[in-house]
Amino acid sequence: MAYLCYVMTMPGLETLAFSEIRARFPGTELVKYSRGLTLFRTSTPPAELLTLRTVEDVFLVIAHIHGVSAKREALKALHAATIKADCAPALSIWGRIHKGKRARTWRLVSQMYGERKYRRVDAGDAVSGALRKSLPQYLHPVKENADMEFWLWINNNEALVGLRLSDATMRHRLYKQEHLPASLRPTVAAALCWLSRPTKDDVVLDPLCGAGTILVERGLMAPADELLGGDIREEAIAMAKRNARVAKVDVEYGTWDARHLPLDPESVTRIISNLPFGKQIGTPEKNRELYEDLAKEFHRVLTPDGLMVTLTSEERLWGSLLRANGWHVLKKLVITVLGQPATIFVAERAKKNA
Ligand SMILES: C[S@@+](CC[C@H](N)C(=O)[O-])C[C@H]1O[C@@H](n2cnc3c(N)ncnc32)[C@H](O)[C@@H]1O
Repeated sequence: MAYLCYVMTMPGLETLAFSEIRARFPGTELVKYSRGLTLFRTSTPPAELLTLRTVEDVFLVIAHIHGVSAKREALKALHAATIKADCAPALSIWGRIHKGKRARTWRLVSQMYGERKYRRVDAGDAVSGALRKSLPQYLHPVKENADMEFWLWINNNEALVGLRLSDATMRHRLYKQEHLPASLRPTVAAALCWLSRPTKDDVVLDPLCGAGTILVERGLMAPADELLGGDIREEAIAMAKRNARVAKVDVEYGTWDARHLPLDPESVTRIISNLPFGKQIGTPEKNRELYEDLAKEFHRVLTPDGLMVTLTSEERLWGSLLRANGWHVLKKLVITVLGQPATIFVAERAKKNA
């Protein structure tokens, strides 16, 4: 049995999410990428997709509609294609996932990109009208707080009508009881961890761990030898400890200044960290000095074959400091964090004779 599914990710993380999907569920075939969306065909039971860590939401496709024009006649085509779709298999999968919950209500969420001769609400009405006719009688449309959500996505000449299988806990995570300003979205933290190519022998360090999201995600993603975290603020460490306890992830914490880590040279195999952006935490001027010290100190504590994954809004500054301080950048990925572009750097220590 093959299922046509899509996941929503933070824009910029589409290909990375698919690399997690393919590694976890071999045989899954990519259909297409779009901004913030990855469409694929898989034989994996959709419930298992909810264990993915780098995606925000999972959907089962009810209708995949091609040839959606920008003219008003597209509304009829959307309506007709949705009416023809058989929702029963998707409803039964939803029922198995949300065991014991009897859905009574549904709503439609619409997303539409590009200039068109109709509005997003018109497209939504066309699809809702079809769903009203084709869904079982016991399901009633509502505006808010629906038990079940259908999502309509229209981009270029394509449309997807999907049933949302995930709920908000997929992206917010239940362990995240404590939040700090500048705390990272768990799916982005997971993406950083995925890029660090986890192995069970990793000694993982987040030297500026804040509420500890990265280390928790790393612990939940795959076994590791040791997880070490620290922050200059006691308050952050208290929160990080609580989050790790709730998530049942073992992390050793210290309060420290990341410029002078109480760690031996070449003692960690992975550094994964979200550096202060100089907006909510720090200032751009202070960042310059801080970043230079960090580039040196991280180089000291990482093993020669180790990997470092960092996220920062200071792309140019961090990139040039890495080059000047013995690092070789393997990969860069641009994403959006708190409305501003941020760059993920994957780096290793440059080989001496390179
Ligand atoms: C962007 S936040 C990290 C957020 C974290 N990834 C999370 O999800 O909560 C940066 C953290 O660096 C800490 N910090 C700033 N300067 C530091 C320094 N010199 N040494 C250690 N921690 C520092 C701040 O207290 C803050 O918690």
